[in-house]
Amino acid sequence: MPGDKSVSHRAALLGALAEGVSEVQGFLEAEDCLRTITAVQALGAEVTRKGPGHYRIAGGGLRGLSEPGDVIDCGNSGTTARLLAGVLGTQPFWTMLTGDASLRRRPMGRIAEPLRAMGATIVGRAEGTRLPLAIRGTGLARAIQYATPVASAQVKSAILLAGLVAEGPVTVTEPAPSRDHSERMLRRFGARVVTEGRMVTLTPGPLRAASVAVPGDISSAAFLLVAGAVVGEGRVTLRRVGVNPTRTGILDVLAAMGAQIQTAEAADEGEPTASLTVTAGALKATTIGGTLLIPRLIDEIPVLAVAAAAAAGVSVVRDAGELRVKESDRIAALARELARMGAVVEERPDGMVITGGRRLRGAAVNSGGDHRMAMALTVAALIADGETVIDDVACVATSFPTFAEIVNTLAGTTAITAEP
Ligand code: S3P
Repeated sequence: MPGDKSVSHRAALLGALAEGVSEVQGFLEAEDCLRTITAVQALGAEVTRKGPGHYRIAGGGLRGLSEPGDVIDCGNSGTTARLLAGVLGTQPFWTMLTGDASLRRRPMGRIAEPLRAMGATIVGRAEGTRLPLAIRGTGLARAIQYATPVASAQVKSAILLAGLVAEGPVTVTEPAPSRDHSERMLRRFGARVVTEGRMVTLTPGPLRAASVAVPGDISSAAFLLVAGAVVGEGRVTLRRVGVNPTRTGILDVLAAMGAQIQTAEAADEGEPTASLTVTAGALKATTIGGTLLIPRLIDEIPVLAVAAAAAAGVSVVRDAGELRVKESDRIAALARELARMGAVVEERPDGMVITGGRRLRGAAVNSGGDHRMAMALTVAALIADGETVIDDVACVATSFPTFAEIVNTLAGTTAITAEP
């Protein structure tokens, strides 16, 4: 599996903030993560590509960044924008951040508010809650205890990154635990980070360079796992997939739906990994909800909706209003696009109700520029009768540039063809 997107972003950022030369293997060379590389280069970090996914990052320490000569374009990447804002919120120079049309629609108030409380000046569109934003810090952050209203690793990480140069310990409390890659990697780079339930405390201090082995991305694996579970009589094995418990909600849900998934080759290099083998079989409907589960699979809901459409019975997704502020409004997009293929999807404010078991039919559908919609629709197309034409698929390169190639290899035939 290609490298984990979340872990790759963090490796680039922490490498740039550390003292010394960090070595990253398995870095995800997809558009989102390359945005973070370009951003840290614009801020003065020296990045050398040694080979595929192999990067050497020479950081100048927490105070070693310098004012960029131009606006930093985060493209489609919410993680680049929000985590970088945490870094920039303490830097004593101005940086302008922007992004593509999707990212400029997404909420930034959730990071701007705590960063302002830490002393950052953040101005921009919509009263400083939408990109483009201009950000400046003072070189020293106020130590805060912050209770975030959303379980968001991006919000938590922004505060922790700003906290590296705070005048005292910084604490973030979340309504439910979100992915903890930042905490793990900060520790690997020598930071003092303590987690107690939903509360994380970081004590300020320098970072020292480290080596990072990026695990495979379970959010990308999700498309192949669901394809393996629903298509024909297949069996798919995915090697070295990251199985951090804050990310494995999809495995719990697929198991509840009756999917056969075996885990083997468990290892741990700062992040736990395993190989996953899925065998195709009949699926049954399930309910996906609860504040503890949703953050553990939020990015996998588009493809889980496809699994639900293929399963016998009525599945419900709830407590997932966050889906409306991802790369697209994924609740509206799933209801609209899967309906074109004959699925019965009823939209709810915080989720959807999917009546499964209907045969899907090939149709003309549109990803809306959202990489996970494009890939979820591809999995739906694999089980639909006839041909599906998915429009606007360049976005797949955001997180999984080799997706079509891998699907074609697994299918043993050219299941996906590109049209200009
Ligand atoms: C991410 C956190 C999640 C996730 C996103 C990546 C991260 O977003 O949806 O794809 O790398 O921290 P939120 O933290 O906003 O929920």
